[in-house]
Amino acid sequence: MTVTGALQPISDTTSTSRPRVGGATVRKAKLQDAVNIFELVNSLSGDGTLLRRSYSEICENVRDFHIAESESGVFLGCGALHLYGPHLAEVRSIVVKPEAKGQGAGGRILRALLQEADEQGVASVCLFTRIPDFFYHFAFRTVDRTVLPDKIYKDCQSCPRLYACDEVAMVHGPLPKMAVLGPTKFPQQELVKLQAGSIAGH
Ligand SMILES: CC(C)(COP(=O)(O)OP(=O)(O)OC[C@H]1O[C@@H](n2cnc3c(N)ncnc32)[C@H](O)[C@@H]1OP(=O)(O)O)[C@@H](O)C(=O)NCCC(=O)NCCS
Repeated sequence: MTVTGALQPISDTTSTSRPRVGGATVRKAKLQDAVNIFELVNSLSGDGTLLRRSYSEICENVRDFHIAESESGVFLGCGALHLYGPHLAEVRSIVVKPEAKGQGAGGRILRALLQEADEQGVASVCLFTRIPDFFYHFAFRTVDRTVLPDKIYKDCQSCPRLYACDEVAMVHGPLPKMAVLGPTKFPQQELVKLQAGSIAGH
């Protein structure tokens, strides 16, 4: 049985009705939101607008997500904040349903993610995008992607578009001063080696 087969379709609007975004709220996602997140994010992964996310990956990381919903509880969109560490976070999977676009939901989701980064004490927030103009509205600036080795190591290494990437790297806040993924650049404490028989004698 495929996971997709087990999922319910997005159960909120028809394509003809335009949900009222005016009174929309943005809140932390719950596990029950995972299906809507999965379907919306992957509806835009085919052309590379968003990275594909498996259903299990979304469930596992659902606490990274905020979602926007209308006053009547209609799912409108989502976005995630991935924490690399105190030095860097990343906005991922930010998307609003086509019929809800242009009414402020995307901006509200992004502000909630930036606020979450702030609450976590993370000043540098990065992202890769094809639409830098949207993010300029929120004080992101374009940077050379090489200043984001954690992001490159996490996603780019295994990306089929590695040498044909059309995304722009952006940062909100200061540039990260360190990295935690990839080849170790900082001296690590040597791990304690167990002696033969030391466990048995424990
Ligand atoms: C990008 C996206 C999330 C924006 O959501 P939205 O709800 O339409 O955006 P908002 O209505 O909150 O717009 C906030 C501001 O950004 C501007 N804006 C929105 N989309 C924009 C775009 N593509 N380019 C430039 N500016 C944009 C709006 O005009 C608005 O400006 P204002 O405050 O001066 O009025 C939405 O268009 C979307 O889902 N796109 C497809 C997925 C995608 O590309 N995600 C980004 C992946 S990195």
